[in-house]
Amino acid sequence: MAPHWLLALVSLLLLLQTPSISSLDARGSDATCVAHERAALLSFKASLSDPAKLLSSWHGEHCCTWGGVGCSNRTGHVLKLNLSSCSQEFGVRVGGEISPSLTTLHHLRYLDLSCSNFSGVQIPQKIGSLKSLQHLDLSRASFVGRVPPQLGNLSNLIFLSVSDNPLYSDDLAWLSHLTSLQYLDMSSVNLSTVVDWVHAINKLPSLKVLRLEDSDLRKSPATLSHYNLTALRVLDISGNSFQAGFSPSWVWHITTLTYLDLSQCDFHGSIPDEMGSMTSLEEVHIAEAILAGIIPPNLKNLCNLKIVDLHDSNTTGDIGELMERLPKCSWDKMYVLDFSDNNISGSLPNWFRPLTNLTILDLSYNYITGPVPLWIGALPKLAMLHLHSNQLVGEINEDHLEGLRSLQELRMSDNSVSMVVRSDWVPSFRLQVADLKSCRIGPAFPTWLRWQSDIQVIDISNASITDNVPDWFWTVASNATLLDMSNNQINGTLPASFETMEAERMDLSFNRFTGTVPKFPRGVTFFDLSRNKLSGTLPSDLEAPELSVLALYNNSISGNIPSSLCNYSLEILDLSGNMLTGEVPNCQQGDLGGFTPLRSLNLNSNNLSGNFPSVLQRSKDMIFLDLAYNQFSGNLPAWLVENMTSLALLRLRSNMFSGHIPVELAKIEGLQYLDLACNNFSGGIRESLAKLKAIARINGYSHSLDELSDYSLSFLEAANTARVKLSYTTTLSVLTKGQQLEFSEELPYMVNIDLSCNSLTGGIPDRISALIALKSLNFSWNHLTGRIPKNIGNLTALESLDLSHNELSGEIPSSISAITSLSRFNLSFNNLSGQIPAGNQLQVLDDPASSYIGNIGLCGPPLLKSCSPNLTTTTPAKDDGNHHDGVETSIYLSMVVGFVFGLWVVFCVMLFKKRWSMSYIAAAIKVRWWFVSSGL
Ligand SMILES: *[C@@H]1O[C@H](CO)[C@@H](O)[C@H](O)[C@H]1NC(C)=O
Ligand SMILES: *[C@@H]1O[C@H](CO)[C@@H](O)[C@H](O)[C@H]1NC(C)=O
Ligand SMILES: *[C@@H]1O[C@H](CO)[C@@H](O)[C@H](O)[C@H]1NC(C)=O
Ligand SMILES: *[C@@H]1O[C@H](CO)[C@@H](O)[C@H](O)[C@H]1NC(C)=O
Ligand SMILES: *[C@@H]1O[C@H](CO)[C@@H](O)[C@H](O)[C@H]1NC(C)=O
Ligand SMILES: *[C@@H]1O[C@H](CO)[C@@H](O)[C@H](O)[C@H]1NC(C)=O
Repeated sequence: MAPHWLLALVSLLLLLQTPSISSLDARGSDATCVAHERAALLSFKASLSDPAKLLSSWHGEHCCTWGGVGCSNRTGHVLKLNLSSCSQEFGVRVGGEISPSLTTLHHLRYLDLSCSNFSGVQIPQKIGSLKSLQHLDLSRASFVGRVPPQLGNLSNLIFLSVSDNPLYSDDLAWLSHLTSLQYLDMSSVNLSTVVDWVHAINKLPSLKVLRLEDSDLRKSPATLSHYNLTALRVLDISGNSFQAGFSPSWVWHITTLTYLDLSQCDFHGSIPDEMGSMTSLEEVHIAEAILAGIIPPNLKNLCNLKIVDLHDSNTTGDIGELMERLPKCSWDKMYVLDFSDNNISGSLPNWFRPLTNLTILDLSYNYITGPVPLWIGALPKLAMLHLHSNQLVGEINEDHLEGLRSLQELRMSDNSVSMVVRSDWVPSFRLQVADLKSCRIGPAFPTWLRWQSDIQVIDISNASITDNVPDWFWTVASNATLLDMSNNQINGTLPASFETMEAERMDLSFNRFTGTVPKFPRGVTFFDLSRNKLSGTLPSDLEAPELSVLALYNNSISGNIPSSLCNYSLEILDLSGNMLTGEVPNCQQGDLGGFTPLRSLNLNSNNLSGNFPSVLQRSKDMIFLDLAYNQFSGNLPAWLVENMTSLALLRLRSNMFSGHIPVELAKIEGLQYLDLACNNFSGGIRESLAKLKAIARINGYSHSLDELSDYSLSFLEAANTARVKLSYTTTLSVLTKGQQLEFSEELPYMVNIDLSCNSLTGGIPDRISALIALKSLNFSWNHLTGRIPKNIGNLTALESLDLSHNELSGEIPSSISAITSLSRFNLSFNNLSGQIPAGNQLQVLDDPASSYIGNIGLCGPPLLKSCSPNLTTTTPAKDDGNHHDGVETSIYLSMVVGFVFGLWVVFCVMLFKKRWSMSYIAAAIKVRWWFVSSGL
């Protein structure tokens, strides 16, 4: 998880720490080699596999001249064997078996087999007989099994690395014999059962570097009685699963440390004052920890401090105080300050300090308020300025930016800052990343971008730009991999040169682009031009073989869906809200992807026709399918059920589909949103419908719909560029009375069956009451007969129930009053009779009487018609009848008004709230259904 800059620094540091090879004074020379050692080398070679013939020089008499072999000038003994493959490609690495003959090279001082391919091979125990060894590097060589304790016999060892092998060790007592050891690296060796590793290490008085990253260490003593580690300079125990509460006070007594990494160690508590005496410290990483408060106040003597990395560490406090506590004597050396992803608040101090060496300043994802101070602009070495996701305000102008000559990454997104610069300003920097999402940059298009010819990532979305794109921009941005200009009011047309752009991810949605859709950039994987004013037909010869997400919804695009789309492996395709005509292309078997990997297809609100698209036969992973508001016709194919087993949402509303609703539909286990309304379906509603598993489950939550929205994110994160995210949001747009409502985050919670407005006949199956997760049920405008199922009251999650405009008869089952969450209810225009059951929720509905009108036989409140006396139980006294009615009506009215207004307030707040808590979602869903179902 270490940031890339950290890795670079660490490897640099490692290089400096490694004992130099030349100090062993054993380079290849023409000293004649010792015969039995030559034989041993040849036998060692014979057991090795060497696919790329890296050991081709190993022949002839003079073994001291062989590649990687070094001998003593004086005695001719082999002193050094360097077979490191680290500079080689994986496939050509030396590997195989290790011949025992190797351990007869008793004079060997230096052995390096790092990055070899000894997969499945154990480190030979006999290695303990190489008593002269000073340098042993077996890292990254795929050795397996136990680290042999015989290594303890190598008492002259100075350097030992067995890191990054699938090795384990259960006891480190053997280490105590290695009293000369200066460098020990057992990173990624499984040490989960070693209890007293600290005591073993504490017996190594010469140790300078200790690396035990990701070694699954579990325990650590808090203190040591005596500190032997007086030479230790580098301590890296990051990435170990110490139990919560890990807070090793012994670490803070090692005052010789220059490098300390306790990241990802479940470190709990505060950094103690003892840190103030670690005066050699240059670099400290305590990231991904749970710190209490901020760094201690007594760090003033840490004059060598260069790198402080406390990202994601629950550091809490004021940014001004935090900066003030950093040692002033190291200001001019300070190289990296990473406090991102913490609870830091307050505003940035307004002073000037000579942070002349500062290269990375990362304060992103905190709660920092106030303006950006001018000293930020006086950091001549600053390459990365990450202030995104804070609560900064005010203006940023040339003075903030002019001094940043080395700046490569400017990230200010998700604050409330405006960027106000002269239109003729020429910056001194050349950015690679400009992440300015939600900054106020407009109304004019930012002209200073013209000089940013190295730019890789441009995010100027939601930046209040109401201008057209200058021609030069498409040239400057032509090498960028990510371009996000969405959510502005940018006008003008898209250039013909579009297809030569390098962009892999491009989002120009929610703008005012006009003209036709140009050919897509050839390497694009994510392409979103939705909500613009594009017209004309789609280019017929689209060539974007990597395309995975394509969204062009809500434009005025006409013509056919080009069959060239068959050539891509699209996973998400959204062409809804256009004027497309003709049939969905029927991709040939030979086409590359066809529609096979599709998971979400949204073609709603076009003029598409033809039968149910047969190309979808191959879309076995389809989760979201919306073909509503088109002119598709014909029967639903039998393969729909067989092939689209992952469907969670199927919306075919307002087409001309006919025939029976397939019985097998209920076999689609995850289907929880089924909308077949306003087609020409005929026949009965089958009992089998009640077997829809997802709706018969209690919780009514679709993981696959949830994954689908996450999916677009993870897809992008995989190829993440500086973690600037683009996302396509799967949206269900619902037309109601003059309103278009859109649901996306709520989608996984929507549980719906809508078969209204068809020609269905017969009764409502009793077993419908098994669909207990249903939130909305609509069978209205059909020719249904018979009674309302007696147990309909089992559907306690229902928020909307519409059975109106059918030929239902009999009484309204009294169980209906058990459905307390109903906010929309309509039984009007049937042949129902008898007394209307009383129920709390039913009384609160908007115009309650309208739910029942058109049923001649119904009586009792809220209808004015009273039932015959022997049925009546709650008839009000006659004398104050009229007066009472008036009061009642006004109470109803005020309740209704209050209810509706309240819901609107909640709803509007929700619309602007980014993260929905569960309870908000629940509330919002109710509101939603109220509106949705008050539509049609
Ligand atoms: C050994 O030989 C090498 C190469 O000829 C030479 O550079 C080195 O100085 C010699 N070492 C000693 C100790 O003579
Ligand atoms: C310190 O190191 C010496 C030498 O290896 C050893 O004898 C002694 O036991 C060590 N002390 C502790 C407390 O481990
Ligand atoms: C984070 O720090 C704050 C303030 O020091 C503390 O109240 C909170 O409990 C800490 N969070 C965790 C998860 O320990
Ligand atoms: C600046 O930081 C780099 C990286 O740590 C370091 O190599 C260099 O010496 C520092 N410069 C000064 C003046 O301290
Ligand atoms: C884009 O990259 C190409 C190849 O590296 C280079 O020739 C061209 O000048 C670059 N374009 C811009 C605008 O920097
Ligand atoms: C774009 O919008 C701006 C500002 O509204 C207007 O001045 C300009 O004429 C428009 N350009 C085009 C090409 O429509």
